[in-house]
Amino acid sequence: EDVEIPTLGELRDRLNPKLWELLTKASAQAKQRGWHLYLVGGAVRDLLLAKEASGSLLIQDIDLVVDGFHKAADVGAGVELAKALQQLYPAARLEIHGAFQTAALLWHKDPELDSLWVDIATARTEFYPYPAANPEVEASSIRQDLYRRDFTINALALRLTPPRAGKLLDFFGGLLDLQAKQIRVLHANSFIEDPTRIYRGVRFAVRFGFKIEQQTEEYIRYAINSGVYDRTTKENHKTPALQTRLKAEIKHILEATYWQAALELLGDLGALQCIHPSLKTLDEELLRQLRLLERCLRKFDPEQTLLTHWQMRLEAMIAYLAPAYRAKVAKNLQLQEDSIERLQKLAQAQIEITNALPTCQLTSQVVKLLRAYDLPMLILVALHSSRPIRKLLWHYLTVWANIEPILNGNDLKKLGYKPGPQYRQMLDELLAATLDGEIRDRTQAEKFLAQHYPQ
Ligand code: CTP
Repeated sequence: EDVEIPTLGELRDRLNPKLWELLTKASAQAKQRGWHLYLVGGAVRDLLLAKEASGSLLIQDIDLVVDGFHKAADVGAGVELAKALQQLYPAARLEIHGAFQTAALLWHKDPELDSLWVDIATARTEFYPYPAANPEVEASSIRQDLYRRDFTINALALRLTPPRAGKLLDFFGGLLDLQAKQIRVLHANSFIEDPTRIYRGVRFAVRFGFKIEQQTEEYIRYAINSGVYDRTTKENHKTPALQTRLKAEIKHILEATYWQAALELLGDLGALQCIHPSLKTLDEELLRQLRLLERCLRKFDPEQTLLTHWQMRLEAMIAYLAPAYRAKVAKNLQLQEDSIERLQKLAQAQIEITNALPTCQLTSQVVKLLRAYDLPMLILVALHSSRPIRKLLWHYLTVWANIEPILNGNDLKKLGYKPGPQYRQMLDELLAATLDGEIRDRTQAEKFLAQHYPQ
């Protein structure tokens, strides 16, 4: 099949020039030391996907791999290269992760590079005790590095150092898969080894409009059926790392504009079971609740200042589980304390509100009842409520909750009332009377006070 491989010049023309300059400098530094340098992972994929020569592609995550030619002294090649680059870019922060022989350079809101994260790793060469000059061997250590990766489209490497700079290393057919628009793993065990890859695969599929290749889908189903997620849903302190990474993937998906399509695909694959085994698919009812949640978020927190929207989506999904599971699942997924507490108390709040609301005769009674709960709790309750209750909650949140007493503490002082604990009660009564339409303006409010609190 015809796979068109772009030239280095074509790739350069797609990329932001400042980023290209950075790669060129990194390559020169590597070359000086007799190393090879590769751009790998998502950056290569995104460069190949960005067809136009707009010169504007600004990638925020760059993965570089240094091939140190098997000299014992060069195990720290990645770290050394990062240090050399930092000399050239003093604005970047350097982080070194000694245990993995990796380093990172970080820019934060740089005027030219914006926010950029460059990871520099050293190719693992310890398994290849061959003569260093042999180019086959050189390729095989980078091959080893790429083979550990998740999908073929993420396992491409672009050589940045000469000779053959610009050569695309494609050991696993990633370029073909990019053109066929499919997500394919490198080997059958990929999802068993790392169950978060199921979420990654779905994320890439939805984001790029790709499909998950047939065989890969079968591996996903096999992994889920064989219980890869049992480790995560049972309380298990041995796999906190997996839970943390899984939560990061869930966050990634729930933050994206395409969260709904991604959840539907996860549901079709049975992958929502990683949250809880009873969550088999994304059924109509849960979907309805999530859509209602979106309306609430848009209405009550359009600027995302009060609530963390992705977290609310996750809370709504957990709230969909039977009450007995909620807090445990929230704890397992390491949600924030307030989320866990909310999910713990949701069932009780639901009962209280459902029972008490229909007995309220006056607006002030509704407000007094609902004031005891915070916005996210009321939203969760609304998702699980019948239409009449939901309408009351909505009206409370949009109108009644915003009504304030006509007079404030200062006004009371001016009217000659002695400051003290009584103020709270007076203001509460004023508010209630306002809500119930008994008083409409200052004059009526002052009259109301004179009546109830004669001086
Ligand atoms: N990777 C992997 N398995 C994982 C996570 C990451 O194999 N569970 C590999 C992938 O090859 C990926 C690389 O590590 O390309 C970098 O990971 P990350 O930055 O998370 O992915 P990107 O492909 O850069 O995705 P994005 O564009 O969403 O950042």
